[in-house]
Amino acid sequence: MQYNRMGSTGLQVSRICLGTMSFGNSEEWMVEIDKARPIVKRALDLGVNFFDTANVYSNGRSEEIVGELLKDHRDSVVIASKVRLSTGEGPNKEGLSRYHIMDQARKSLKRLKTDKIDLYQTHRWDYSTPIEETLVALNDLVRQGMVNYIGTSSMYAWQLAKALFTSDRLGVARFISMQNHYSLCYREEEREMIPFCKDQGIAMIPWSPLARGFLTGRYKRGGKADSPRYRSDKYFADRFFKPEDFDVVERAEEIAKEKEVTVSQIALAWLLHKGVCAPIIGATKVEHLEDAVGSLEVKLSSDDMKRLEEPYKPHRIIGPLPLPEPAS
Ligand SMILES: NC(=O)c1ccc[n+]([C@@H]2O[C@H](COP(=O)([O-])OP(=O)(O)OC[C@H]3O[C@@H](n4cnc5c(N)ncnc54)[C@H](OP(=O)(O)O)[C@@H]3O)[C@@H](O)[C@H]2O)c1
Repeated sequence: MQYNRMGSTGLQVSRICLGTMSFGNSEEWMVEIDKARPIVKRALDLGVNFFDTANVYSNGRSEEIVGELLKDHRDSVVIASKVRLSTGEGPNKEGLSRYHIMDQARKSLKRLKTDKIDLYQTHRWDYSTPIEETLVALNDLVRQGMVNYIGTSSMYAWQLAKALFTSDRLGVARFISMQNHYSLCYREEEREMIPFCKDQGIAMIPWSPLARGFLTGRYKRGGKADSPRYRSDKYFADRFFKPEDFDVVERAEEIAKEKEVTVSQIALAWLLHKGVCAPIIGATKVEHLEDAVGSLEVKLSSDDMKRLEEPYKPHRIIGPLPLPEPAS
């Protein structure tokens, strides 16, 4: 395994992070603890020490599975979770108010069977809470020892800039990482967010690095896409599968053949060569995890990188929450 410092901190994380949105039972494509157990075991055996979950994944079931499967390894793993999205009906059940953050942090700790979350991330911008309130609440969690570091997820670059300068102005903890949407099939983050993160020493830990499985080459142009994830992941079919997406995956296939590796290894190696700290991969089988770890051995030349990037066409923005419509 290779390890990287997380941004400008001293924290060391494996260059492959195991995402656990696939652990749970809220959609057909997800796996329960019996199938998650061998995946987590293999990850630990291969030296993966970085695991990502969120309070909302399968209504907390993902955190429970992660807590159960990592409880005997707590001192050697880095557990990341998130807060922001809706956890129920009614007021104060979502967002980044002090009220919701404190409530959810306690519940996440309980489900995760731990007394600290290593990386606590805000899971989208909250337009209705002042960023000062959010950052002070997060800083209090750090001071109380419930959280080690704070990070964030998909937003516009101006919002991250605002959060960082607010932290500096208040003298409170800064976000150390950006969990954003970035893959060979979705590169809009290269415009503003990625240069900004590099400038600020923010670790980039992209989600859906294989475009939810599209970048494995298993879905063919003109073929019938049919898998549990394709059927039950409401975001999947609509985001990829355009002719220009197939141009990208077919180019990756060409290079995978030349190097005798898998298409997904080419897609992950491309990200690793772009300077991301650790892609957050999704797995529903042990082989997915093993395949991802194998990408660390794949070397791409600057010519390979150019060829992989050449077919890309700009996409609509997928990730940051748009500004709410002004009330009329
Ligand atoms: N912050 C956010 O807003 C956000 C959003 C999305 C995700 N995430 C995080 O990112 C993690 C990863 O997201 P993701 O699941 O979309 O990631 P992904 O790595 O792009 O896709 C994973 C899926 O690809 C397929 N796959 C992986 N390796 C394969 C292989 N070798 N051969 C064939 N198929 C393979 C599997 O699909 P099948 O299961 O269909 O076989 C797997 O579930 C999540 O678990 C979560 O932690 C965060």
